[in-house]
Amino acid sequence: MRAAVSLGIVAVICALLVVVTPPAWALWIKALHVVAVISWMAGMLYLPRLFVYHCGVVPGSEASETFKVMERKLLRAIINPAMVVAWIAGLWLAWTSFRFQGGWLHAKLALVLVLSGLHGYYSAAVRAFAENRNLKSARFWRVMNEAPAVIMVIVVILVVVKPF
Ligand code: HEM
Repeated sequence: MRAAVSLGIVAVICALLVVVTPPAWALWIKALHVVAVISWMAGMLYLPRLFVYHCGVVPGSEASETFKVMERKLLRAIINPAMVVAWIAGLWLAWTSFRFQGGWLHAKLALVLVLSGLHGYYSAAVRAFAENRNLKSARFWRVMNEAPAVIMVIVVILVVVKPF
Protein backbone atom coordinates (compact mmCIF):
# COMPACT_ATOMS: atom_id res chain seq x y z
CA MET A 1 0.00 0.00 0.00
CA ARG A 2 2.82 2.38 0.99
CA ALA A 3 4.66 1.49 -2.26
CA ALA A 4 1.52 2.21 -4.32
CA VAL A 5 1.07 5.62 -2.66
CA SER A 6 4.76 6.47 -3.23
CA LEU A 7 4.51 5.44 -6.90
CA GLY A 8 1.39 7.60 -7.28
CA ILE A 9 3.20 10.62 -5.79
CA VAL A 10 6.23 10.04 -8.08
CA ALA A 11 3.90 9.83 -11.13
CA VAL A 12 2.19 13.13 -10.20
CA ILE A 13 5.55 14.90 -9.66
CA CYS A 14 6.80 13.57 -13.04
CA ALA A 15 3.66 14.81 -14.82
CA LEU A 16 4.07 18.26 -13.21
CA LEU A 17 7.78 18.39 -14.14
CA VAL A 18 7.05 17.47 -17.77
CA VAL A 19 4.64 20.43 -17.91
CA VAL A 20 6.86 23.04 -16.19
CA THR A 21 10.44 21.94 -17.11
CA PRO A 22 11.84 22.99 -20.54
CA PRO A 23 13.34 20.14 -22.65
CA ALA A 24 16.58 22.22 -22.83
CA TRP A 25 17.24 21.13 -19.24
CA ALA A 26 17.71 17.51 -20.40
CA LEU A 27 21.48 17.40 -19.74
CA TRP A 28 21.06 18.83 -16.22
CA ILE A 29 18.29 16.36 -15.45
CA LYS A 30 20.48 13.55 -16.83
CA ALA A 31 23.34 14.64 -14.54
CA LEU A 32 20.91 14.63 -11.59
CA HIS A 33 19.70 11.18 -12.68
CA VAL A 34 23.25 9.75 -12.78
CA VAL A 35 24.11 11.24 -9.33
CA ALA A 36 20.90 9.75 -7.86
CA VAL A 37 21.55 6.38 -9.51
CA ILE A 38 25.12 6.26 -8.11
CA SER A 39 23.81 7.00 -4.59
CA TRP A 40 20.99 4.45 -4.93
CA MET A 41 23.36 1.73 -6.16
CA ALA A 42 26.00 2.48 -3.51
CA GLY A 43 23.35 1.89 -0.83
CA MET A 44 21.88 -1.16 -2.55
CA LEU A 45 25.34 -2.76 -2.69
CA TYR A 46 26.29 -1.84 0.89
CA LEU A 47 23.04 -2.71 2.73
CA PRO A 48 23.15 -6.51 2.11
CA ARG A 49 26.84 -6.44 3.11
CA LEU A 50 25.73 -4.94 6.46
CA PHE A 51 23.16 -7.77 6.73
CA VAL A 52 26.00 -10.32 6.26
CA TYR A 53 27.94 -8.80 9.19
CA HIS A 54 24.73 -8.38 11.23
CA CYS A 55 24.03 -12.14 10.94
CA GLY A 56 27.37 -12.77 12.66
CA VAL A 57 26.52 -10.98 15.94
CA VAL A 58 24.26 -11.97 18.84
CA PRO A 59 20.74 -10.40 18.62
CA GLY A 60 20.37 -7.68 21.28
CA SER A 61 24.16 -7.20 21.63
CA GLU A 62 25.77 -3.77 21.38
CA ALA A 63 27.15 -4.63 17.91
CA SER A 64 23.67 -5.69 16.78
CA GLU A 65 22.18 -2.37 17.95
CA THR A 66 24.91 -0.47 16.06
CA PHE A 67 24.13 -2.39 12.85
CA LYS A 68 20.43 -1.56 13.29
CA VAL A 69 21.22 2.18 13.42
CA MET A 70 23.55 1.93 10.39
CA GLU A 71 20.96 0.00 8.34
CA ARG A 72 18.10 2.36 9.24
CA LYS A 73 20.10 5.50 8.47
CA LEU A 74 21.47 4.11 5.19
CA LEU A 75 17.95 3.19 4.06
CA ARG A 76 16.18 6.39 5.15
CA ALA A 77 18.86 9.02 4.47
CA ILE A 78 20.36 7.68 1.24
CA ILE A 79 18.69 4.71 -0.46
CA ASN A 80 15.02 5.83 -0.30
CA PRO A 81 15.50 9.47 -1.41
CA ALA A 82 18.04 8.46 -4.09
CA MET A 83 15.59 5.95 -5.58
CA VAL A 84 12.80 8.55 -5.71
CA VAL A 85 15.04 11.13 -7.45
CA ALA A 86 16.40 8.46 -9.89
CA TRP A 87 12.82 7.49 -10.83
CA ILE A 88 11.56 11.07 -11.22
CA ALA A 89 14.54 12.22 -13.32
CA GLY A 90 14.59 8.91 -15.31
CA LEU A 91 10.88 9.06 -16.17
CA TRP A 92 11.24 12.74 -17.15
CA LEU A 93 14.11 11.80 -19.53
CA ALA A 94 12.24 8.75 -20.86
CA TRP A 95 9.24 10.89 -21.82
CA THR A 96 10.96 14.13 -22.89
CA SER A 97 13.76 12.56 -24.97
CA PHE A 98 12.28 9.22 -26.08
CA ARG A 99 8.47 9.36 -25.63
CA PHE A 100 8.91 5.97 -23.89
CA GLN A 101 9.95 4.39 -27.22
CA GLY A 102 12.81 1.87 -27.74
CA GLY A 103 13.45 -1.77 -26.89
CA TRP A 104 16.47 -0.85 -24.73
CA LEU A 105 14.29 1.54 -22.69
CA HIS A 106 11.55 -1.05 -22.16
CA ALA A 107 14.14 -3.65 -21.07
CA LYS A 108 15.77 -1.08 -18.78
CA LEU A 109 12.42 -0.15 -17.20
CA ALA A 110 11.65 -3.85 -16.59
CA LEU A 111 15.01 -4.36 -14.87
CA VAL A 112 14.66 -1.17 -12.82
CA LEU A 113 11.24 -2.42 -11.63
CA VAL A 114 12.97 -5.63 -10.45
CA LEU A 115 15.63 -3.47 -8.74
CA SER A 116 12.87 -1.46 -7.03
CA GLY A 117 11.25 -4.71 -5.86
CA LEU A 118 14.61 -5.74 -4.41
CA HIS A 119 14.73 -2.35 -2.69
CA GLY A 120 11.36 -3.15 -1.06
CA TYR A 121 12.67 -6.57 -0.01
CA TYR A 122 15.73 -4.96 1.62
CA SER A 123 13.47 -2.43 3.42
CA ALA A 124 11.46 -5.32 4.87
CA ALA A 125 14.74 -6.96 5.95
CA VAL A 126 15.83 -3.77 7.76
CA ARG A 127 12.55 -3.98 9.74
CA ALA A 128 13.09 -7.71 10.43
CA PHE A 129 16.64 -7.12 11.71
CA ALA A 130 15.40 -4.17 13.83
CA GLU A 131 12.90 -6.52 15.53
CA ASN A 132 15.48 -9.37 15.90
CA ARG A 133 13.43 -11.65 13.64
CA ASN A 134 15.73 -12.14 10.64
CA LEU A 135 15.76 -15.84 9.76
CA LYS A 136 18.03 -15.64 6.69
CA SER A 137 21.67 -16.77 6.84
CA ALA A 138 24.80 -14.73 6.14
CA ARG A 139 25.30 -16.89 3.04
CA PHE A 140 21.81 -15.91 1.77
CA TRP A 141 22.63 -12.20 2.14
CA ARG A 142 26.02 -12.71 0.48
CA VAL A 143 24.26 -14.17 -2.57
CA MET A 144 21.60 -11.40 -2.48
CA ASN A 145 24.42 -8.88 -2.54
CA GLU A 146 25.19 -9.90 -6.14
CA ALA A 147 21.68 -9.26 -7.53
CA PRO A 148 21.82 -5.44 -7.67
CA ALA A 149 25.35 -5.59 -9.11
CA VAL A 150 24.25 -7.85 -11.99
CA ILE A 151 21.17 -5.68 -12.71
CA MET A 152 23.32 -2.52 -12.62
CA VAL A 153 25.79 -3.87 -15.22
CA ILE A 154 22.99 -4.86 -17.64
CA VAL A 155 21.12 -1.55 -17.14
CA VAL A 156 24.23 0.55 -17.87
CA ILE A 157 24.97 -1.49 -21.04
CA LEU A 158 21.34 -1.08 -22.16
CA VAL A 159 21.29 2.70 -21.67
CA VAL A 160 24.76 3.47 -23.05
CA VAL A 161 25.08 0.91 -25.93
CA LYS A 162 21.32 0.76 -26.70
CA PRO A 163 21.78 -2.64 -28.44
CA PHE A 164 18.13 -2.85 -29.64
C1 HEM B 1 14.55 4.50 -12.00
C2 HEM B 1 14.15 4.33 -13.25
C3 HEM B 1 15.01 4.76 -14.40
C4 HEM B 1 14.55 5.34 -15.55
C5 HEM B 1 13.10 5.63 -15.89
C6 HEM B 1 15.70 5.65 -16.37
C7 HEM B 1 15.68 6.25 -17.62
C8 HEM B 1 16.77 6.84 -18.23
C9 HEM B 1 16.77 7.60 -19.46
C10 HEM B 1 15.54 7.82 -20.33
C11 HEM B 1 18.03 8.04 -19.71
C12 HEM B 1 18.50 8.91 -20.88
C13 HEM B 1 19.24 8.04 -21.89
C14 HEM B 1 19.89 8.85 -23.00
O1 HEM B 1 19.72 10.08 -23.05
O2 HEM B 1 20.56 8.24 -23.87
C15 HEM B 1 18.85 7.55 -18.63
C16 HEM B 1 20.22 7.79 -18.51
C17 HEM B 1 21.05 7.01 -17.73
N1 HEM B 1 20.64 6.07 -16.81
FE1 HEM B 1 18.75 5.68 -16.23
N2 HEM B 1 16.83 5.24 -15.71
C18 HEM B 1 16.46 4.67 -14.51
C19 HEM B 1 17.32 4.08 -13.59
C20 HEM B 1 18.66 3.86 -13.82
C21 HEM B 1 19.52 2.95 -13.07
C22 HEM B 1 19.04 2.07 -11.92
C23 HEM B 1 20.77 3.04 -13.60
C24 HEM B 1 22.03 2.32 -13.23
C25 HEM B 1 22.09 1.28 -12.44
C26 HEM B 1 20.72 4.03 -14.65
C27 HEM B 1 21.82 4.46 -15.38
C28 HEM B 1 21.77 5.47 -16.30
C29 HEM B 1 22.95 6.08 -16.93
C30 HEM B 1 24.41 5.70 -16.64
C31 HEM B 1 22.50 7.06 -17.81
C32 HEM B 1 23.33 8.00 -18.70
C33 HEM B 1 23.47 7.34 -20.08
C34 HEM B 1 24.10 8.25 -21.13
O3 HEM B 1 23.80 9.44 -21.16
O4 HEM B 1 24.86 7.77 -21.96
N3 HEM B 1 19.42 4.48 -14.78
N4 HEM B 1 18.08 6.80 -17.75
